[in-house]
Amino acid sequence: MHPTIRTERVQTPSKRLQARLGMLVLTLLLALPSTGLAQDAEGTLKYRQDLMSAIGSDMAAISDILKFQLPLQANIETHASNIASNAGLMNSAFKAPISDGPTDAKPEIWQDWAHFEKDIAKMKAAAEKLSQTVAQGGDGAAIGAGLKTLGRTCGGCHKEFRKPKKESYKNK
Ligand code: HEC
Repeated sequence: MHPTIRTERVQTPSKRLQARLGMLVLTLLLALPSTGLAQDAEGTLKYRQDLMSAIGSDMAAISDILKFQLPLQANIETHASNIASNAGLMNSAFKAPISDGPTDAKPEIWQDWAHFEKDIAKMKAAAEKLSQTVAQGGDGAAIGAGLKTLGRTCGGCHKEFRKPKKESYKNK
């Protein structure tokens, strides 16, 4: 084996690849101004809905544990604290005022942003409280009451700021 030939063989494709990547990046950069905005909106809607779905999944998991009386009550502490953490992402996820397209967000969110933020804070507080109730060994009644309170904070915001089910983008 000639080390010189070996280096050359390794270097040649890597240089070619670098040049090709350079071209690709340039092409992408040139394409951005025309398509960037539309892609942004699509991604923003997808992201905030995925975030809400995560919150929905933790909420559903808590309901499963209680409804089927699973011996997993301790897990509720984590599910509730996940909801509280995700509440901390909602502000940034909803910041972009997009209510057109495949979304159930009402334009009122951005007309009354302070109210929307207050609703997020209410959900966060209720989720933290539920998590603590479980951590402190609260009984079924206390946990059930905490879940109910948390659920009301979802409904409160949805009623105000989310399109009703029959108008949902999901039916379109
Ligand atoms: C501060 C307001 C607010 C609170 C609090 C809130 N939501 Fe939402 N939620 C929304 C809005 C607005 C949408 C619509 C988002 C969209 O379609 O772009 C939504 C959408 C959803 C969706 C549908 C996501 C999708 O895929 O389209 C689920 C599930 C959901 N929320 C669950 C919950 C649960 C569970 C809670 C309570 C633990 C909750 N939400 C609390 C505002 C809120």
